[in-house]
Amino acid sequence: MERTFVALKPDGVQRGLCGEVMKRFEQKGFRLVAAKFLQPSEDHMKQHYLDLKDMPFYAGLCKYMSSGPVFAMVWEGQGIVKMGRMMLGETNPADSKPGSIRGDFCINIGRNIIHGSDTVENAKTEIGLWFKAEEFVSYTPCAQTWVYE
Ligand code: RTP
Ligand code: MG
Repeated sequence: MERTFVALKPDGVQRGLCGEVMKRFEQKGFRLVAAKFLQPSEDHMKQHYLDLKDMPFYAGLCKYMSSGPVFAMVWEGQGIVKMGRMMLGETNPADSKPGSIRGDFCINIGRNIIHGSDTVENAKTEIGLWFKAEEFVSYTPCAQTWVYE
Protein backbone atom coordinates (compact mmCIF):
# COMPACT_ATOMS: atom_id res chain seq x y z
CA MET A 1 0.00 0.00 0.00
CA GLU A 2 1.28 3.46 -0.95
CA ARG A 3 2.10 6.16 1.60
CA THR A 4 2.41 9.93 1.37
CA PHE A 5 3.69 12.70 3.62
CA VAL A 6 1.26 15.56 4.26
CA ALA A 7 1.95 18.57 6.49
CA LEU A 8 -0.15 21.55 7.48
CA LYS A 9 2.24 24.49 7.19
CA PRO A 10 2.37 27.16 9.94
CA ASP A 11 -0.29 29.24 8.14
CA GLY A 12 -2.61 26.22 7.87
CA VAL A 13 -2.20 25.48 11.58
CA GLN A 14 -2.69 29.13 12.62
CA ARG A 15 -5.83 29.32 10.50
CA GLY A 16 -7.34 26.32 12.25
CA LEU A 17 -7.40 23.99 9.24
CA CYS A 18 -5.87 20.79 10.72
CA GLY A 19 -9.27 19.21 11.33
CA GLU A 20 -10.61 20.18 7.90
CA VAL A 21 -7.64 18.59 6.13
CA MET A 22 -7.77 15.42 8.25
CA LYS A 23 -11.50 15.20 7.57
CA ARG A 24 -10.95 15.23 3.81
CA PHE A 25 -8.33 12.45 3.90
CA GLU A 26 -10.43 10.40 6.33
CA GLN A 27 -13.62 10.79 4.31
CA LYS A 28 -11.84 9.74 1.13
CA GLY A 29 -11.07 6.42 2.82
CA PHE A 30 -7.35 6.92 3.42
CA ARG A 31 -5.74 5.60 6.61
CA LEU A 32 -3.70 7.74 9.01
CA VAL A 33 -0.59 5.79 10.05
CA ALA A 34 1.50 8.46 11.83
CA ALA A 35 1.07 12.07 13.00
CA LYS A 36 2.83 14.68 15.11
CA PHE A 37 2.64 18.36 15.98
CA LEU A 38 6.00 20.15 16.08
CA GLN A 39 7.91 23.32 15.23
CA PRO A 40 10.58 22.18 12.74
CA SER A 41 14.01 23.81 12.71
CA GLU A 42 15.16 25.87 9.73
CA ASP A 43 17.83 23.21 9.03
CA HIS A 44 15.15 20.52 8.94
CA MET A 45 13.16 22.55 6.41
CA LYS A 46 16.30 23.20 4.32
CA GLN A 47 16.73 19.43 4.12
CA HIS A 48 13.04 18.88 3.32
CA TYR A 49 13.08 21.39 0.45
CA LEU A 50 16.66 20.61 -0.72
CA ASP A 51 15.47 20.18 -4.34
CA LEU A 52 14.56 23.88 -4.35
CA LYS A 53 17.89 25.16 -2.93
CA ASP A 54 18.69 27.21 -6.05
CA MET A 55 15.29 28.93 -6.15
CA PRO A 56 15.12 32.60 -5.08
CA PHE A 57 12.34 31.82 -2.58
CA TYR A 58 14.21 28.92 -0.85
CA ALA A 59 15.51 30.88 2.17
CA GLY A 60 12.17 32.62 2.77
CA LEU A 61 10.31 29.32 2.35
CA CYS A 62 12.46 27.55 4.95
CA LYS A 63 12.12 30.48 7.37
CA TYR A 64 8.32 30.53 7.01
CA MET A 65 8.08 26.77 7.43
CA SER A 66 10.05 26.90 10.70
CA SER A 67 8.25 30.01 12.03
CA GLY A 68 5.54 28.10 13.91
CA PRO A 69 3.87 24.75 14.50
CA VAL A 70 3.42 22.25 11.70
CA PHE A 71 1.05 19.27 11.76
CA ALA A 72 2.90 16.39 10.07
CA MET A 73 1.08 13.25 8.95
CA VAL A 74 1.63 10.06 7.00
CA TRP A 75 -1.43 8.76 5.14
CA GLU A 76 -1.78 5.44 3.38
CA GLY A 77 -4.00 4.20 0.55
CA GLN A 78 -4.16 2.98 -3.01
CA GLY A 79 -2.78 5.67 -5.37
CA ILE A 80 -2.53 8.16 -2.51
CA VAL A 81 0.48 10.17 -3.77
CA LYS A 82 -1.23 11.28 -6.99
CA MET A 83 -4.68 11.61 -5.39
CA GLY A 84 -3.22 13.51 -2.43
CA ARG A 85 -1.72 16.07 -4.80
CA MET A 86 -5.08 16.40 -6.58
CA MET A 87 -6.81 16.94 -3.22
CA LEU A 88 -4.26 19.67 -2.36
CA GLY A 89 -4.61 21.51 -5.69
CA GLU A 90 -1.91 23.38 -7.60
CA THR A 91 1.16 24.97 -5.99
CA ASN A 92 -0.31 28.39 -6.76
CA PRO A 93 -3.74 28.66 -5.10
CA ALA A 94 -4.78 30.97 -7.96
CA ASP A 95 -4.57 27.93 -10.28
CA SER A 96 -6.26 25.55 -7.82
CA LYS A 97 -9.84 24.57 -8.49
CA PRO A 98 -12.54 25.17 -5.89
CA GLY A 99 -13.04 21.85 -4.13
CA SER A 100 -9.31 21.36 -3.65
CA ILE A 101 -7.72 22.32 -0.32
CA ARG A 102 -5.64 25.19 -1.72
CA GLY A 103 -8.53 26.18 -4.00
CA ASP A 104 -10.87 26.46 -1.03
CA PHE A 105 -8.69 27.91 1.72
CA CYS A 106 -5.86 30.14 0.45
CA ILE A 107 -4.89 32.82 -2.05
CA ASN A 108 -1.12 33.35 -2.09
CA ILE A 109 1.61 30.94 -3.38
CA GLY A 110 3.83 31.82 -0.42
CA ARG A 111 1.02 30.95 2.04
CA ASN A 112 -0.47 27.85 0.45
CA ILE A 113 -1.13 26.16 3.83
CA ILE A 114 -0.23 22.54 3.06
CA HIS A 115 2.51 20.27 1.75
CA GLY A 116 2.09 16.92 0.02
CA SER A 117 4.70 14.57 -1.50
CA ASP A 118 4.82 14.78 -5.30
CA THR A 119 6.16 11.29 -6.15
CA VAL A 120 6.24 7.87 -4.47
CA GLU A 121 10.04 8.13 -4.31
CA ASN A 122 9.98 11.59 -2.67
CA ALA A 123 7.26 10.41 -0.27
CA LYS A 124 9.61 7.68 0.99
CA THR A 125 12.45 10.19 1.48
CA GLU A 126 10.19 12.73 3.24
CA ILE A 127 8.61 10.10 5.53
CA GLY A 128 12.13 9.01 6.52
CA LEU A 129 13.13 12.60 7.24
CA TRP A 130 10.11 13.36 9.45
CA PHE A 131 9.29 10.06 11.19
CA LYS A 132 11.06 7.21 12.99
CA ALA A 133 9.92 3.60 12.48
CA GLU A 134 8.48 3.41 16.02
CA GLU A 135 6.18 6.38 15.38
CA PHE A 136 3.96 4.35 13.02
CA VAL A 137 0.81 2.66 14.29
CA SER A 138 -0.35 -0.59 12.71
CA TYR A 139 -4.11 -1.25 12.72
CA THR A 140 -6.99 -2.17 10.45
CA PRO A 141 -9.75 0.46 10.21
CA CYS A 142 -13.20 -1.11 10.67
CA ALA A 143 -14.29 0.29 7.27
CA GLN A 144 -11.36 -1.31 5.40
CA THR A 145 -13.46 -3.94 3.60
CA TRP A 146 -16.06 -1.26 2.67
CA VAL A 147 -13.42 1.00 1.11
CA TYR A 148 -11.54 -1.69 -0.85
CA GLU A 149 -13.13 -4.50 -2.88
P1 RTP B 1 4.94 21.62 -1.46
O1 RTP B 1 6.26 20.92 -1.76
O2 RTP B 1 5.02 22.58 -0.31
O3 RTP B 1 3.83 20.60 -1.30
O4 RTP B 1 4.50 22.49 -2.71
P2 RTP B 1 4.53 22.06 -4.25
O5 RTP B 1 5.12 20.70 -4.41
O6 RTP B 1 3.17 22.28 -4.77
O7 RTP B 1 5.50 23.16 -4.88
P3 RTP B 1 7.10 23.21 -4.84
O8 RTP B 1 7.55 23.56 -6.20
O9 RTP B 1 7.65 21.97 -4.21
O10 RTP B 1 7.36 24.46 -3.91
C1 RTP B 1 7.43 24.32 -2.52
C2 RTP B 1 6.78 25.51 -1.87
O11 RTP B 1 7.56 26.67 -2.13
C3 RTP B 1 6.69 27.81 -2.12
N1 RTP B 1 6.85 28.49 -3.39
N2 RTP B 1 6.93 29.77 -3.49
N3 RTP B 1 7.24 32.40 -4.45
C4 RTP B 1 7.18 31.40 -5.31
O12 RTP B 1 7.23 31.57 -6.50
C5 RTP B 1 7.06 30.06 -4.79
N4 RTP B 1 7.05 28.95 -5.50
C6 RTP B 1 6.91 27.95 -4.61
C7 RTP B 1 5.29 27.31 -1.93
O13 RTP B 1 4.98 27.35 -0.53
C8 RTP B 1 5.39 25.87 -2.39
O14 RTP B 1 4.35 25.08 -1.83
MG1 MG C 1 6.92 20.13 -3.54
